[in-house]
This record gives sequence, C-alpha cells and structure tokens, in this order.
Amino acid sequence: MPTADELKQMAALAALEKVEPGMRLGLGSGSTANHFVKGLGERVRAGLDLIGVPTSERTAQLAIAEGIRLATLDEIPSLDLTIDGADELDAQLRLIKGGGGALLREKIVAAASRRMIVIADGSKLVEHLGAFPLPIEVNLFGFGATRVAIEAVAYRFGQPATLTRRLAADGTPFVTDGGHAIIDASFGLIREPEAIGLALAAIPGVVEHGLFIGLATSAVIASSEGVRWLHA
Ligand code: 5RP
Repeated sequence: MPTADELKQMAALAALEKVEPGMRLGLGSGSTANHFVKGLGERVRAGLDLIGVPTSERTAQLAIAEGIRLATLDEIPSLDLTIDGADELDAQLRLIKGGGGALLREKIVAAASRRMIVIADGSKLVEHLGAFPLPIEVNLFGFGATRVAIEAVAYRFGQPATLTRRLAADGTPFVTDGGHAIIDASFGLIREPEAIGLALAAIPGVVEHGLFIGLATSAVIASSEGVRWLHA
C-alpha cells in the first residue's frame, strides 16, 4: 500500500509528463508541488529548457536549488501551465487551497496561466468542499473588523463558521509571503462555493480566499489503484 507521500509523488510525476520544452510554467507550493519541482529539476538537469514562476518563497528556494530558471509575472505576464496541489477538490475541479499559506500567489499565478493541473492524492478528492477549513488571507490593518465581516458572511449564508487565526509552528501568528494574516474558516460543508467566494472577496480587508473556482482545467489523482485524470 503506497503512503500518502508516495501517492503525492505519483500524481506529481504523472503531471510532469505534460511539461514540454520552452514552456512558461507556474510552480505550485506544498509537499505535492515539491515532488513536482524535484522531478522537474531532474529533467532540467538532463537538458529540458523552460522557465518557471514560483508561487512562494519556499518554492523559489527549492526551484533554485534544483537548477530551474525562474522569472516573475512582471517579466512573463502569461503562462502556459501551472501545476499545483490542493487541500480539497471536487468533481467540478473547484478547489480549496492555502493550507500552506501561499494562496494569494498561487491564485495570481493560476489566473495568469492558460491551463492549471492539480496534483493530489486520492484523499483530497471530496464530494463537497468544506471539511478542510477555508484559508482566508487578511490584511493586518483592521484585522478584528475583517474577522467580524467574515463571520457576518458566514451567517448570511446560513453557515456559521468557526474562525481561527493561523499560527506558525513556534506559536506566533502566521505571516504570509505578502505580509498578511490567515484566518482558517471551518464551515464543515460549503453549500454555495461560488457565492460565498464572491461575498468573501467583497470584504475590503480580505486579500484573497482559498476557493479556486474556474481555474483548474485538469487534475491528476493518485490512489492505490493508480493514477486517474479529471478534466473540467
Ligand atoms: C499551499 C497549498 C497546497 O497546494 C495545499 O496546501 C496542499 O498541500 P500538500 O501538497 O502539502 O498536501 O494550497 O498554499
């Protein structure tokens, strides 16, 4: 029986087969995306030429260590493909992302890409989004008021949520690459992901939320039965 990490690697390596020479590639963040970046590094060292745009400082460091040429979205504003993990996805390829705290850059990079492939082990594929707490990136100014506004949105949708400010491993408040806080909103089940996403995005102190809708074009899911592809 493969471990969860082996399944993540299987998904990452299956997606690697879709990478072509000369591509402008968005590089995701998280443990599954790390497997992809490491596999990509091997191919680059074997002569594959392409350019990557990382979605976090951690991915940038790993990609540099792997010898992958990097650029910013200022230098290359549109990408061919982004490959990234997810915390949850449903059959319509709606995602919850941000478990690693990189959701803002991940969403900007995915939105700048023509295609997005999600790589995941089978545990991430769910019937309904929301068991995984929704990460919401929030500006530090007005944090308390923004938190109350998020609670109000949850009530308005008849889905009162438990909100928790994310902490780093050392117990201090987690700070994103962009210098913001993260609130994890436990809904249990998100009945109307599109509508709740729009309502959260309309709160002035919300920088971004982890609902990725209409961005993923395919997903590769690895389980003990093997790898299978889903398409939007
Ligand atoms: C980071 C993310 C990751 O893609 C998500 O948390 C999945 O992580 P992992 O591959 O480690 O399970 O959204 O912000």
